[in-house]
Amino acid sequence: MSERTIALVTGANKGIGYEIAAGLGALGWSVGVGARDDRRREAAVDALRAAGADAFGVPLDVTDDASATAAARLVEERAGRLDVLVNNAAITGAMPQDPTRVGPAVIRTVVETNVIGVIRVTNAMLPLLRRSASPRIVNMSSSVGSLARQSGADAERTTGLVAAAYAPSKTFLNAVTLQYALELSGTNILINAACPGYVATDLNGFRGVRTPEQGAAIAVELATLPDDGPTGAFFDDAGVVPW
Ligand SMILES: NC(=O)c1ccc[n+]([C@@H]2O[C@H](COP(=O)([O-])OP(=O)(O)OC[C@H]3O[C@@H](n4cnc5c(N)ncnc54)[C@H](OP(=O)(O)O)[C@@H]3O)[C@@H](O)[C@H]2O)c1
Repeated sequence: MSERTIALVTGANKGIGYEIAAGLGALGWSVGVGARDDRRREAAVDALRAAGADAFGVPLDVTDDASATAAARLVEERAGRLDVLVNNAAITGAMPQDPTRVGPAVIRTVVETNVIGVIRVTNAMLPLLRRSASPRIVNMSSSVGSLARQSGADAERTTGLVAAAYAPSKTFLNAVTLQYALELSGTNILINAACPGYVATDLNGFRGVRTPEQGAAIAVELATLPDDGPTGAFFDDAGVVPW
């Protein structure tokens, strides 16, 4: 078994996921770059290695059972265990997503990636995470999925994004994160949700105001929690995000 801490980041070929991989690599960890496209994955691995990280490619389409199983096998063969899983891959789905007009197919596609994809990859990796001394799971969520932030009193209401597939997919992901935390309470696995803030990436046509590196910081923090750290919670750089 490897002595280095082993992490896997899904959707790590670009955007926030790439910067999470870079941040974990800078800690001296061995980082699996989960990505579905061979060329984009190899380019990211090359760039991370050029920056000094111990990066390795992990072919992974989070919507595909066989791909998740093969990814787990690859990590097992390479390292024998997994210490940290960052479920970062996500899509917004076709816009606009007004709830009165959105097609069921758009909802299905977004939930398949953003929610079921997280469950699929997490469950494929859990046997490897259970072999770690300090397993951590970070689910990249968004404050647009916070029910409190969408509905609360004016001071709390900081998002009003109308995106009936994407925003509820993150609410669903938050609920799933809590479900894992409940089942895994009493184990050493800490699982939390993170919001990176509004980050300039492909996801939003680069309209975000934060850099991918800034967006990655909260995931790196939750990936490196101490053993007595929180679980079943939702954080951004400012602290706890209300559900
Ligand atoms: N950007 C923001 O302002 C913002 C705000 C709140 C939350 N977030 C969350 O932060 C995370 C990263 O977003 P981002 O802004 O960095 O987006 P991004 O630049 O669009 O990157 C998304 C990543 O997910 C990958 N991906 C999508 N579907 C996949 C699949 N089926 N299998 C494997 N990988 C897949 C993409 O791969 P391809 O290159 O192959 O498409 C890409 O690597 C997401 O969970 C997002 O919801 C972002």
